Amino acid sequence: MGMGTGGPAGAGGPAGAGEPAGAAGEFALHGARIIVRAGALADAAALVRDCAPGCRPIVIADANVAPLHAAPIAAALGTDLLTFPAGEASKVRARWAALTDELLARQLGRDTVVVAVGGGVCGDLAGFVAATYLRGVPVMQIPTSLVAMIDAAIGGKTGVDTPHGKNLVGAFHQPALVLIDPLALRTLPADHRRAGMAEVIKHGVIADEPYFHWIAAHGAALLSPIVADEVAQRLVLGSVAVKVHIVAGDEREGGRRRILNFGHTIGHAVEHLSNYDVLHGDAVAIGMVAEARLGELAGWTLPGLADEIRDLCATLGLPVRIPSAFDAETILSLTRGDKKARAGVAEYALPLRLGEMNVGEGRYALRMDEGLVRAAIEATR
Ligand SMILES: NC(=O)c1ccc[n+]([C@@H]2O[C@H](COP(=O)([O-])OP(=O)(O)OC[C@H]3O[C@@H](n4cnc5c(N)ncnc54)[C@H](O)[C@@H]3O)[C@@H](O)[C@H]2O)c1
Ligand SMILES: [Zn+2]
Repeated sequence: MGMGTGGPAGAGGPAGAGEPAGAAGEFALHGARIIVRAGALADAAALVRDCAPGCRPIVIADANVAPLHAAPIAAALGTDLLTFPAGEASKVRARWAALTDELLARQLGRDTVVVAVGGGVCGDLAGFVAATYLRGVPVMQIPTSLVAMIDAAIGGKTGVDTPHGKNLVGAFHQPALVLIDPLALRTLPADHRRAGMAEVIKHGVIADEPYFHWIAAHGAALLSPIVADEVAQRLVLGSVAVKVHIVAGDEREGGRRRILNFGHTIGHAVEHLSNYDVLHGDAVAIGMVAEARLGELAGWTLPGLADEIRDLCATLGLPVRIPSAFDAETILSLTRGDKKARAGVAEYALPLRLGEMNVGEGRYALRMDEGLVRAAIEATR
């Protein structure tokens, strides 16, 4: 990682992996200033102005988040708030076109700054509007769901879904500012809190063993909306630090960034097979258990890791078994058609032990014998 691309910036950087961190954190990543601080939303307008002096901000949020968190920010900025219906169904080209037309109708120019306040749907959609408006204007991400705070808002991927699949049309567009206030999670519905915890656990497994143990020590208490401010902050900060450090060295996913795919090869197949009835986070939990088992069967992963991941996921209310109706052959065939597959061969990011992934000739993507995958699937029933 180069200087200034991904390290903690400023004195308030996060504590080393897993240390209890009461302090706020700030990072610099590919031109993005990333701030994690309990209570930061109250200063959002000032920080937006600070980051883009003289620009004309426009705020975009879904209909749930608009009254809760976005309206006060738009009011403080003295600007309009554009809203759209909440949910994945809004992450489509028609909605991208409608929002773009709203900007055009306001005759907003190249001094526009899009401020996306909300979950990953809003971040991806509004980010894609910003990426393409007048060939690109800056975006600021103010994530309010756990998934958006620790995953979607960091890394610069934006885009929309198509009838052919999710996230198939989009652009890399790094935000100028990512403002993360863990206290916004207080209003997040319980199922979305749980789903986000799967990616949090993943971050512990792939890069931060002490963080994994910290999560395990707090267990189900982390699901409470009234968890102490410093615990909420530590939770978000630990995960943001992992994602930032991984993306810092690999902006467009050529190498180490692939370790973020742990649990996602079998996870995506399960998600797909359920017709998206199984939530992404739930599918990732199942996928992590199955893929850790696969690593164990291949003799790479420290025996016992799959059980350890399974137990922590179960403690947090995440599913850990592949439904018996999902047959192994169908899962295998879906993994061959996964976005990550190359020439029809599935690839896996597999752990060696907590905090350490298999490098696999620098590609962090391993091709596995399908007999072993089948056995791992059956062992995850
Ligand atoms: N760009 C990336 O790198 C990346 C990474 C991971 C996920 N994603 C995308 O993110 C999306 C999933 O994100 P998500 O889970 O945040 O979905 P989401 O944006 O639909 O948010 C989930 C629900 O929570 C509500 N919500 C959000 N914050 C809230 C709050 N503080 N209080 C009350 N309600 C709140 C939303 O209105 C919505 O109903 C998917 O489309 C996925 O593809 C993108
Ligand atoms: Zn995921």
